[in-house]
Amino acid sequence: MSTTGTPQTVLITGTSSGIGLAAAVRAAQAGRQVVATMRDTAKAGPLRRAAAEAGVEDLVQVKRLDVVDAGSIAACLEEVLTEYGRLDAVVNNAGAGRVGTIEQGTVEDVRSTMEVNFFGVVQVTRAAMPHLRAARGRLITVTSVGGVIGQPFNEAYCAAKFAVEGFMESLAPVAATVGVAVTVVEPGAVASEFVDTIGVDVPAMLSAAGPYAPALRTYIERTVASFAQAQTPAEAAAPIIEALTAEKPAFRVQTSDWARDFTGRKLSDLDGSAVQAMTAAWVG
Ligand SMILES: NC(=O)c1ccc[n+]([C@@H]2O[C@H](COP(=O)([O-])OP(=O)(O)OC[C@H]3O[C@@H](n4cnc5c(N)ncnc54)[C@H](OP(=O)(O)O)[C@@H]3O)[C@@H](O)[C@H]2O)c1
Repeated sequence: MSTTGTPQTVLITGTSSGIGLAAAVRAAQAGRQVVATMRDTAKAGPLRRAAAEAGVEDLVQVKRLDVVDAGSIAACLEEVLTEYGRLDAVVNNAGAGRVGTIEQGTVEDVRSTMEVNFFGVVQVTRAAMPHLRAARGRLITVTSVGGVIGQPFNEAYCAAKFAVEGFMESLAPVAATVGVAVTVVEPGAVASEFVDTIGVDVPAMLSAAGPYAPALRTYIERTVASFAQAQTPAEAAAPIIEALTAEKPAFRVQTSDWARDFTGRKLSDLDGSAVQAMTAAWVG
């Protein structure tokens, strides 16, 4: 609750499924007025049902926002300010993966991965900053362990998540001077719609992979096995709510012990050899 007695307002992107949906319900349970955005509001059924089951449907308002459409971002923010008069926090959660060989894909594929995962975050952040400044609020962005350690066959996705990490790490001290706390949240494997959405046709991909096929097969087998231990979206959303509600949120948080151990390898690997040895073992 704010000092004026009205609930704090948090806007979350990509709430039709997965981590964003779970974060929307949990933020409402934490007493926030949630503006749950999605690019296609016809997909709001699962969120509305989860909010109703949790008894917080009155605190979850669905609005359209496509992170690659600047007009939809501006229109959504204008509505939020008109209806609630304030925006206390933004959770940049929307994202989409891409797996494949850099030779199979096109430069356009790389650009569209950057559009959603990086420029989408930039557009939402730029538009929201004046309002977050006014509220001395929070800016929370879901990146990935893939934003710290580059992962084989995920070149475009990891490049986008690295870009987001660099952007937010640079912005954090600047935003702090105007009262806005910046946090990046790094999940490992999460059992959401994420893998389905990548739309990988494994046999087709392997047959087109040419000299990379054995490495790609090894990578896919390893990844499928790793998703057997995936977190639930609710588990991955918990650190987002912590960043939203803590008095002094950390800049960087991982969503699991596994993610902490994994990203920790990078920070102690000054010449890059430990990480290269680890990821080389994933493909051979
Ligand atoms: N799942 C994992 O293993 C994992 C691991 C590390 C990081 N992450 C990150 O966690 C975040 C959430 O992913 P998730 O696992 O919850 O996957 P998810 O269930 O596929 O959710 C992704 C959400 O992003 C939305 N989205 C995609 N493009 C969008 C756009 N242009 N504008 C607005 N929304 C858009 C999707 O909407 P539609 O329903 O319309 O497609 C969906 O609501 C992403 O940033 C992802 O990179 C996930």
